[in-house]
Amino acid sequence: MAAIHILVGSVYGGALLTAREIAKQLAPEGHQVVVLENPELSDLTQTDEPLLVCTSTTGQGELPPTLLPVYLELKDLLPLKPGRPFGVIVLGDSSYGDTFCGAGTLMEEVFQEMCANQVGETLRIDALETTDPIDEALPWVRDWIRQLP
Ligand SMILES: Cc1cc2nc3c(=O)[nH]c(=O)nc-3n(C[C@H](O)[C@H](O)[C@H](O)COP(=O)(O)O)c2cc1C
Repeated sequence: MAAIHILVGSVYGGALLTAREIAKQLAPEGHQVVVLENPELSDLTQTDEPLLVCTSTTGQGELPPTLLPVYLELKDLLPLKPGRPFGVIVLGDSSYGDTFCGAGTLMEEVFQEMCANQVGETLRIDALETTDPIDEALPWVRDWIRQLP
């Protein structure tokens, strides 16, 4: 059983619905999943539980406004979290070219700077190929949980 905090970044609700559905599907299996729709720094620093980012990409490879404040705080303060497990699910659209799923890369980088431990490879969900992100996200999360230390 895992206790997971999901940090959500979403503009139009796709990533938020995905995070909520992950929580809904995993709860009956005994996992404790907290969905943080507007995550704050204290949400990250008060526990050592695994963090799962579930964000979309906006602008030109940028983070949605719900996730940007905590990202900027992390960049600024860089609270060291050696070994803290994290994973990243990022929604994007490959028609944006070079900035495809850029929000996920930003989150990966800041967690790596904090010495956190990335579990699994980032899941990049392409809106051009996938109509319902949960179809890809749910199997990925189940696999991610199995890999958690
Ligand atoms: C204004 C705007 C800018 C976007 N910029 C990017 C981008 O730079 N890279 C990318 O991969 N996807 C980009 N997208 C696609 C979104 O990330 C994608 O549609 C995602 O599924 C939206 O999720 P959400 O409903 O949680 O906001 C953009 C979408 C919009 C509307």
